[in-house]
This record gives sequence, structure tokens and C-alpha cells, in this order.
Amino acid sequence: MIKHTSHEIDIVKSDTTKIDAVDFDNLTFGRTFTDHMFICDYENGEWQTPKIIPYQPMTMDPSARVFHYGQAVFEGMKAYKDDDGKVWLFRPIDNFNRINKSATRLAMPEFPQEYFMNGLTTLLKMDSAWVKPGKGNSLYIRPFIIATDPAISASPSNNYRFMIICAPAKAYYTGKIRVLIAEEYSRSANGGVGFAKAAGNYAAQFYPTSLAQKKGFQQVIWTDADTHERLEEAGTMNVFFRINDTLITAPLSDRILDGVTRRSIIQLAEDNGIEVQVRPITVTEIKEASKNGSLKEIFGAGTAVVISPISAFEHADELFELPTIENSYADTLKDKMLNIQHNMDEDKHGWRYQV
Ligand SMILES: Cc1ncc(COP(=O)(O)O)c(C=O)c1O
Repeated sequence: MIKHTSHEIDIVKSDTTKIDAVDFDNLTFGRTFTDHMFICDYENGEWQTPKIIPYQPMTMDPSARVFHYGQAVFEGMKAYKDDDGKVWLFRPIDNFNRINKSATRLAMPEFPQEYFMNGLTTLLKMDSAWVKPGKGNSLYIRPFIIATDPAISASPSNNYRFMIICAPAKAYYTGKIRVLIAEEYSRSANGGVGFAKAAGNYAAQFYPTSLAQKKGFQQVIWTDADTHERLEEAGTMNVFFRINDTLITAPLSDRILDGVTRRSIIQLAEDNGIEVQVRPITVTEIKEASKNGSLKEIFGAGTAVVISPISAFEHADELFELPTIENSYADTLKDKMLNIQHNMDEDKHGWRYQV
């Protein structure tokens, strides 16, 4: 192993690579990780010198607060490689800002922008062979912060660990999914942590989602906890509805994650002359629109698959099928996003960031 310091990051380079053993055509999402990982510890009220070391398990005291109180936040972003071998990020500052917003809500210290961008780009340069070219191929990047204090007392930790790990992701077509509209369970509440990428939000979704899956639905459309009337998110994606030729998505609130894809889709739709309405949209409205034929599309939007079209939804034991349409907004907007992300199209909003 070679040890040296670069841009104030202590680097221990792996002297072997696992890449030759990886079948990039048959990747299970989130199971294979690159050769290195980034670590920065928070101690004595300060972020310490960051490190990049070979990807490896780590030891932690069983009393670390993350295991007991779920003081943990994370991010999800991607790197893409163009045909010239250049590696690109998509709106990385948005993810940086969001992890700090999440951290603040969970009473955790903010991470410095310079450490985040320098750590991320250095890690990606070291593991750039893991980013495969080709539209849809990407390297999924998972920054996260956990509370490491060895103390089982229900109060914020004094010590934290910020890390970045990366997993190659294959272009995959998920097919259209069927969703169940939540009538009993909620993923978030007023004044809660729904807007944060807090680890516990995801654990809380697993059980209701598994009940929906038993009924033959892949995902749940989450509604507001008070009335279960307002449509807010689809699984771990923001959700869009097309009624006639208007695209509608719920306004942000403390119950909804401020998605980078959501924000980009709204902009791209507007750039392409599609009318977008950011306003509350209800179960009653989409049921009526489905019955009168004006509901043309529903899709989820998020980093993992960009856009996930929905073919049917169920509410109060009534199933509603969506029509199959030519030139769907889902296909058009997904293509435009992928082209920008892979440096195949003009980037007029300056969203791409070269590593
Ligand atoms: C709950 C939730 N909503 C929406 C999104 C989409 O956000 P983004 O487009 O930033 O990936 C995600 C995924 O990160 C999510 O976990």
C-alpha cells in the first residue's frame, strides 16, 4: 500500500483492485463497491483530516448512538462517464446542501463544502475505472454521516463519522410499476423529518411497502398523514401526474424530500414548453381524471432510475389502469435528463460538474 497526502486528504491506496472480478453486465444494485472509501471523523468539535483508504469493514463500539437512536443521514448521487472517458457529476452541490440540511434536522454538525467536493472528486479520480460509459450506466455514490459516540443515552452524539462509498450501477429498465395509495400508514408527518434523508425514514417504509408488495404492488404512493388525500411521494421518489398536457407535482413541505431529479424535471419540462403546476393534488382528483380519461401518466422521479413510469394505482380496493401512450412525458424527459448527465446534450443550466 502506498501512503501519501494529497490536497489535505491522507490517502492509503489499495495495491490490488477487485474490478476484474466484477461482472458489470449483471450487477445487483448496491452490492458491489469500488476499491476505496472516504472517511472523515468529527471529534472535539471539529472535522478531522479526511482519509481515503481501501474499502473495508470497520469496527465500532456496540453502544455507538447510531445503532440505538438512528442518528444517521445519507445522500444518493451518481457519476457518469462520457464517450471520451470524462467523468461527470450532476448538480453535486445540491446533494451537499441537502446532507447538511438533513444533518441539522438530526442535530448533527454540518460537513464543510471543501471537504465534501475535494473528497468526492479525489475518490472518483482514484476509482474512475469503476464508472462505465454508456447511457444509463453510472456509479452510485453514497455519502452518509453516523453518530459514533459510545454511549447509550438518548441525546445527540459528540462524535460523528462522515463517509462516502460508491457502487457501480447498470442501466436498467424497471418496467412499469403498479402502486398502492397509502390510506393507513404514513412516511412522514408535519414537523417531522420527511424532508430530510434520515435513515429511519426508510426503515419506517419497509413494513407498509412489504404489505403492498404482498398485494401485488411494487410501491406505495404516500399521502399526507392528516387526511391521506394529498399525493406526496412514490416510494423513495417524488411523484408527477400528467392530466391532459399539464404536469403536476406536490409543493415541497417538511413532509417531502426536495429531490434533485424533481427540480430538474420541472425545469426541463418548462424548457420544453410543458405546463407544470406545483400544487397539492388529491386522490379524488386523480380518480376522477382517470375515470374521465384525462389522467395520462403518473411517474416517480429520483436519482436511482431518473423516471419510473407507473401503469396502475389502487385506492380503497378500486384499481385504476393508466393508458399506454406514445411520446410520453416520462420517456421524453428521462431521455433529456440522461443526455445531459452523460454529456450528450447541451447543459444550459450548468448542472454538469466535471470530476
Ligand atoms: C423519499 C425520497 N423522495 C425523493 C427522492 C428523489 O430525490 P433525488 O431526485 O434527489 O434522488 C428520494 C431519493 O433520493 C427519496 O429518498
